[in-house]
Amino acid sequence: GKDKELIRGSWESLGKNKVPHGVIMFSRLFELDPALLSLFHYNTNCGSTQDCLSSPQFLEHVTKVMLVIDAAVSHLDDLHSLEDFLLNLGRKHQAVGVNTQSFAVVGESLLYMLQCSLGQAYTAPLRQAWLNMYSIVVAAMSRGWAK
Ligand code: HEM
Repeated sequence: GKDKELIRGSWESLGKNKVPHGVIMFSRLFELDPALLSLFHYNTNCGSTQDCLSSPQFLEHVTKVMLVIDAAVSHLDDLHSLEDFLLNLGRKHQAVGVNTQSFAVVGESLLYMLQCSLGQAYTAPLRQAWLNMYSIVVAAMSRGWAK
């Protein structure tokens, strides 16, 4: 329906430049919650947030995140096919010390990146469409925390 068209239309250009858009998203995330930076163990020796954001391993994680979003956009018609993958991804994030509450801040950062990148095309229905897809992804990942 309309949600899927809005998401696919907006991802078409963003998805071609994953790293820069992912960097905008994670810069915002660390602004909102600087403590998350230390969960990337390879970042403990960074002089500044800016140094961390440009470290190769960190940029790899940014790329991984964007590829998961890309997979979700490609599977909008059958998001449930990603459930096992996302549950396992949740388990890995539990293991590195992420709390499920942090996903709300990640969601805010995703919306911030969309707003910055899309300008006028960032509308209330588009925002809601992305939030809907993101909450499905987060719900699936959060099952990785269940005992
Ligand atoms: C792996 C942290 C959010 C996708 C990792 C790793 C850390 C980490 C420390 C292991 C080291 C690495 O691969 O770089 C975080 C933190 C997040 C976050 C602190 C925010 C609170 C996300 C989100 C996604 C994601 C939202 C995708 C929707 C991945 C993937 C891997 C990964 C695909 C690789 C897993 C594997 O090795 O199989 N994350 N992450 N991360 N993360 Fe995240």
